[in-house]
Amino acid sequence: MNILLLGSGGREHAMACKIAASERCSRLFVAPGNAGTAILVKTKNVNLDPLDFSDIHAFVLANEIQMVVVGPEAPLVAGITDYFASHNALRNVMVIGPTQKGATLEGSKDFAKEFMTRHQIPTAAHRTFTQETLDEGVRFLHTLKPPYVLKADGLAAGKGVLIIDNVKEAEMELDNMLKGKFGSASTKVVIEEYLKGVELSVFVLSDGKHYHILPTAKDYKRIGEGDTGLNTGGMGSISPVHFADKKFMQKVEERIVIPTVKGLRDEEIGYKGFIFIGLMAVANAEGELDPYVIEYNVRMGDPETESVFPRIKSDIVELFEHVWRGNLQQTTLEIDPRPATCVMMVAEGYPGSYEKGKEISGLDQVANSLVFHAGTKQGDKGQVLTNGGRVLCVTTLADTMPSALLQTYQELVKIHWDGLYYRHDIGQDLLKMMM
Ligand code: AMP
Ligand code: GLY
Repeated sequence: MNILLLGSGGREHAMACKIAASERCSRLFVAPGNAGTAILVKTKNVNLDPLDFSDIHAFVLANEIQMVVVGPEAPLVAGITDYFASHNALRNVMVIGPTQKGATLEGSKDFAKEFMTRHQIPTAAHRTFTQETLDEGVRFLHTLKPPYVLKADGLAAGKGVLIIDNVKEAEMELDNMLKGKFGSASTKVVIEEYLKGVELSVFVLSDGKHYHILPTAKDYKRIGEGDTGLNTGGMGSISPVHFADKKFMQKVEERIVIPTVKGLRDEEIGYKGFIFIGLMAVANAEGELDPYVIEYNVRMGDPETESVFPRIKSDIVELFEHVWRGNLQQTTLEIDPRPATCVMMVAEGYPGSYEKGKEISGLDQVANSLVFHAGTKQGDKGQVLTNGGRVLCVTTLADTMPSALLQTYQELVKIHWDGLYYRHDIGQDLLKMMM
């Protein structure tokens, strides 16, 4: 079948590799894609905006597309799944991604918190405030212990969460947020209890009734080594996370995954796609780790996909077909037991301002790792140029995590452009914990 994948990052390149490798895929179109997807077998980039549903509509009909896989959250939050369902000519196209209502799990933190409360899913204690209830918000802050966690309700490009030590400063920021610090995203602000622990991500593929739990991953959000400096889209990831052992994952499944999928079903929220559950593993009184939900996303993570997807051995297109039909329970998910590590190579200056258009060399020298393109484009002579802050991601599967990391760093030094940067310490925190 012909498949359309929406998006242009490393996540989409990693997904495209798996989709194109499926015998069920005849042609893959990536909109808009990057220089990596441009040269993938069976694959063609198309210049479509993932938010322009009428252009996508026309393209899907003209190219006999039978499946649309949505990479980023924006088209989902804008209702692409509902758009397809409401047009007769598109109704039978398999869209992999939740309905707009389902996407609200990511689009509104207040909605997500209320959903968790309704279904007794463990998460930090919270309350939501607006301009009208500012005074109550200030009083609520005084009932909490520092640090204070303030979250813009809506999508704020990953910047809408503030963690503040001082209560006076927290009061001031609450006021600023409600006055529009993050535009309409912070008309409502969620204040929640601070959870102390280690973060990890769990990914679920669901048809709305049944689910598979994909491998766990951890991403590295800060720009600087030792988790310092500004937040980024993600500077690397590793999969699996060693402390998410059988016992911990059983808790995740029983306390979080099952009630989440059942909650969606009971509330008749159409959900055929990925659920990305950001978790904090918090030590309890017995010293055991308990999972708490920090956030839901309604898509795969980036750069978590770049370490999780290479570990999936099952045919992803076949899984997606079962997701669409609602019979995912008839499939099995086969996972490569080898760990995967991914290091993101970024443009100097990122996540602040940076230059684009630098020529990348050495890509053909990389033999023992996978290179996923994030922000790249093809030049007019076929050369690969930088075209974003996060540029390339190097992923290695190996028998152990230390050997995967070693190999990743040995391979990525073969790649050059003027002004590249990457973190040297991806995975080191987990290696220390394992010792
Ligand atoms: P979010 O956008 O909700 O994922 O929040 C961004 C980051 O803030 C998370 O990745 C955590 O590192 C941190 N964070 C969010 N909520 C909490 C919380 N309740 N306690 C501690 N850290 C948090
Ligand atoms: N890596 C975090 C995210 O994709 O939101």
